[in-house]
Amino acid sequence: MKDFNYYAPTEVVFGRQSEEQVARLVRKYGGTKVLVHYGGKSAERSGLLDKVCRLLTESGIGFVKLGGVVPNPRLSLARKGIGICKEEGIDFILAVGGGSVIDSSKCIAYGVCYDGDVWDFYLGKAKATAMLPVACVLTIPAAGSEMSEASVITNEDGDVKLGYGNNLSRPKFAIMNPERTFTLPPYQTAAGVTDMMMHTMERYFTKDDDMDLTTDLAEAMLRNIRTAVFAVLKNPEDYRYRAQIMWGGSLMHNGLTGCGVADDWATHQLEHELSGMFDVTHGAGLAAIWPSWARYVLHENLSRFVRFAVNVMDVPNDFTDPEGTALKGIEAMERFYHAIGMPVNIRELIGREITDEEIREMTRKCSRNGAATCGCLKVLKAEDMKAIYTMAKG
Ligand code: NZQ
Ligand code: ZN
Repeated sequence: MKDFNYYAPTEVVFGRQSEEQVARLVRKYGGTKVLVHYGGKSAERSGLLDKVCRLLTESGIGFVKLGGVVPNPRLSLARKGIGICKEEGIDFILAVGGGSVIDSSKCIAYGVCYDGDVWDFYLGKAKATAMLPVACVLTIPAAGSEMSEASVITNEDGDVKLGYGNNLSRPKFAIMNPERTFTLPPYQTAAGVTDMMMHTMERYFTKDDDMDLTTDLAEAMLRNIRTAVFAVLKNPEDYRYRAQIMWGGSLMHNGLTGCGVADDWATHQLEHELSGMFDVTHGAGLAAIWPSWARYVLHENLSRFVRFAVNVMDVPNDFTDPEGTALKGIEAMERFYHAIGMPVNIRELIGREITDEEIREMTRKCSRNGAATCGCLKVLKAEDMKAIYTMAKG
């Protein structure tokens, strides 16, 4: 069993009308002049952005707005945000949106307190020792950034998508009102659910499989979300199940399901090259990769894949054929992805066959020109990455 440090400092304010508390919380965490950061249109359309700004104004908290964050958030906008914060004397960043907006906020917050180029952190050339406080009003459960230490940014110069993790960046507070997710389109709902489940699956498929409490928690969460997604796809305004998904998204990525186990993250790293190159939705990219990764690494811990099949995917356990049971679990996951509108290979993801040249390029980037590995259940070298991308062609 791995030693661990569980650090989840974010104050979660959950429920109907929870955004009413935004100004009080900004003050509580020391904000006096706020950058309100948001995405394309959804927060404007729903009236949430206006409501947040009105509440800040009524409380006498100054703010500057910066919209335009796109999924797979871009470094150029974060750089613009850093400039605005420095000019305007901003001391707090409030993200109104999903993982992309929160990650862009974290990137800005690092950059304001750093004399060099913020991209240095993502390249691993520097480690942040200070940053502005970040908080969020969450509108899409998916990335888990509302409680996580990570941020993932795309540098348009070369379409490179890289993550940086630092405990300093865990948001001070996260306001979560499940009603705010009623407007999510089915595809975003499904991609979000795929992503949050994967955050726990990346920690579940491990060689450290003696932390039973973590394993049991992980299986319960995976089963819960697997059921809840069908309820909200049928009825988008089902508060009860929107709430399970929203809270599940945070718990599945705040470190809880990683306590005592080594985490893998190979599917994520392989996917980041897909969303970096094709600008696809992160969750959908994960669904396109995972079945091939799973088949490739199956024998590194066959009993864990059997357990997943039986305890999460409801596959009957054939004790005479563990490999067959494990494979049926992967097939059941593929059926689940299809049932919620997700792809199970790259062809279904991008709508055409990926070329060998594109696979070579993704392998080159993912392996940092052959110098880096990824994963831990099976440590993947460049040739393994290429083999998995090739299996996932479809
Ligand atoms: O831009 P708007 O108009 O707001 O539309 C967004 C966006 O198009 C829309 N949306 C959000 N809330 C909505 C809504 N539409 C209707 N009603 C609402 N209430 O949803 C779209 C996707 O939003 P985005 O923020 O991109 O989604 P998500 O939360 O999935 O974030 C994805 C990003 O997070 C990164 C991913 O790589 C990707 O870049 N990740 C971040 C992690 C972290 N920081 O810990 C971990 C993850 O593994 C992931 O890598
Ligand atoms: Zn993810």
